[in-house]
Amino acid sequence: MNLKSLHGLPLGEIRYFDSIGSTNSLALEWANQQAPNLSVVIADEQTAGRGRLERKWSTPKGTALAVSVILRPKKNAPLSRTVGLAALAITDSCSKLGLTPQIKWPNDVLLNGKKTAGILVEAVWNGANAESIVIGMGINLTPAALPPAAELNFPATSLESELGHAVNREEFLREVLANLIARLPRLETDSFFHDWEHLLAYKNQEVQIVTSQNEKTYGTLLGLEPDGNLLLQTEHGNRVTIHYGDVSLRPGA
Ligand code: BTN
Repeated sequence: MNLKSLHGLPLGEIRYFDSIGSTNSLALEWANQQAPNLSVVIADEQTAGRGRLERKWSTPKGTALAVSVILRPKKNAPLSRTVGLAALAITDSCSKLGLTPQIKWPNDVLLNGKKTAGILVEAVWNGANAESIVIGMGINLTPAALPPAAELNFPATSLESELGHAVNREEFLREVLANLIARLPRLETDSFFHDWEHLLAYKNQEVQIVTSQNEKTYGTLLGLEPDGNLLLQTEHGNRVTIHYGDVSLRPGA
């Protein structure tokens, strides 16, 4: 990949790999060794890419963006909003291409109801303080980025499939990083929260939430809380806050 497109962005250092296990794993190690704020790790291919809930994330050569951004947050920074930051950086970039993205709580970007990007936020802790945050973003650019259908736990797509034409990988990468940097100073504002919630998929629809222990909760998706947790009106009429889980439309609803 030619990273000239990143010239002029106020990034820390950049590390690029033709092939790597996981950009997030490398970024976590580097963060432990004092990587500067806004350093990025980019790879053409990941051989051990990681998703949420210990899932695998595949990044075949030349098909996708795999990038991890290291943030060194100030004390008391609203860390729970960083997943929203990444989601909005990606949705801003998709909107610029004329697409209509949505955010599937907590960390997926959808196009036409199918997943085109996933986000994995991890932290390096020092006691109760997050010394560094690693924001990993995996974005399917071409159909070849998708794993075989049998391995998908949610329908997936790519930017090219939705647009019907090729996307310049380097330019899209620049766009995502530029949007993330632009939104960063406004992380704590109400307008950030409103933009985030505005793009939330399945609002006022009947959904199911499945936890990693395979427990299911059903209800109407009401929206987000300011810290990014999900608000649900359960089928029994209670308003509850959901902290973890996978959301999807309730089957048969
Ligand atoms: C998910 O949908 O579960 C999150 C997927 C996150 C994938 C990205 S690709 C770049 C970074 N490196 C990783 O190993 N994972 C994230």
